[in-house]
Amino acid sequence: MKIIVTGGAGFIGSNFIFHMLNAHPEYDIICIDALTYAGNLSTLKSIMNHPYFKFYRADIADREAIYRIFESEKPDVVVNFAAESHVDRSIENPEIFLRTNIMGTAVLMDACRKFGIQRYHQVSTDEVYGDLPLDRPDLFFTEETPIHTSSPYSSSKASADLLVLAYHRTYGLPVTISRCSNNYGPYHFPEKLIPLMIANALNDKPLPVYGEGLNVRDWLYVEDHCRAIDLIIHNGKVGEVYNVGGHNEMRNIDIVKLICKELDKPESLITYVTDRKGHDMRYAIDPTKIHNELGWLPETKFADGIKKTIQWYLDNREWWEEIISGEYQNYYEKMYTNR
Ligand code: NAD
Ligand code: DAU
Repeated sequence: MKIIVTGGAGFIGSNFIFHMLNAHPEYDIICIDALTYAGNLSTLKSIMNHPYFKFYRADIADREAIYRIFESEKPDVVVNFAAESHVDRSIENPEIFLRTNIMGTAVLMDACRKFGIQRYHQVSTDEVYGDLPLDRPDLFFTEETPIHTSSPYSSSKASADLLVLAYHRTYGLPVTISRCSNNYGPYHFPEKLIPLMIANALNDKPLPVYGEGLNVRDWLYVEDHCRAIDLIIHNGKVGEVYNVGGHNEMRNIDIVKLICKELDKPESLITYVTDRKGHDMRYAIDPTKIHNELGWLPETKFADGIKKTIQWYLDNREWWEEIISGEYQNYYEKMYTNR
């Protein structure tokens, strides 16, 4: 089996590649990644010479480059993680989100149609369902919840999902889609809540909490997401959407306080800043379908996963320090100075 993994130099894609090389040592894994600001080859350095791993630097929206790779590699399965993934950046500059997340998805599926494929899997997000109110804890996102997006990021991901389902109906492309809640774990880019707070706390810098910090996210350890995708590409039903989440809702402020406690840093570092525009209040996934059909359940409890994650950032300082010392400085100043 030969699997193309796009976006494999990013957070979840890299964890998925490590998972697959470990779980299926006989598979060939081909990574395609454009190495944008969010992609780091250093993340993949331990497997660069692995006999069953190959890396191509290419943009998924570059049709010629993608067709060339498909022609020479002839993959059996494509798992598309490549995306612009940060909501705040999408609010600043939506255009690149449309190109990568929508056009890139279309180009990959066209390549699948042209060269043949057993399965195209689209890694989507719970953000396509919009948000839920804080005062209705009985409500959850199911696969039947209508698409109702808030940000340019989630709109681009929802557009891609619609296109994926249209390629299935129109051309019979064998597709599946997973919509997962917030992931956390190793190699998470430090622009996102958990790694940003860990890095800032370790550097005794202010911890910028948007609004009042009452927004709720449903956190899942990244390895559990990777296992879910592994199950879907092997046993999932073609044409179906699977929600992935572990019933682990937390308020942002409680996560930040927990990180302070674990790192023995004072809560006085917490600074409330201007809220994100259009900020989604609450995400909460109902994972009944993937549990009943594929037997998936999360394995890592948040209390253990957050400890493991913090320890990883302590043990791998050079990985994130290199990132935050570069172009990230300009991003951080633009987004957080006088906020
Ligand atoms: P990330 O930003 O860490 O990584 C994205 C990767 O895609 C990077 O390596 C980047 O270089 C690459 N990339 C970007 N544009 C590209 C292009 N045009 N061509 C080729 N490669 C390109 O993102 P992530 O957090 O790992 O998310 C991966 C996927 O999972 C995304 O599709 C995202 O929407 C989805 N998702 C993320 C979460 C989460 O909590 N992080 C939850 C649910 C779904
Ligand atoms: O739900 C899945 C989504 O989760 C994925 O599709 C996205 O790719 C991923 O980035 C993530 O989106 P969020 O917007 O939920 O994640 P983020 O880490 O940016 O923010 C989490 C919460 O923390 C959100 O309510 C905003 C808040 N926040 C974030 C940052 C970066 C802060 O309060 N301060 C911050 O500095």
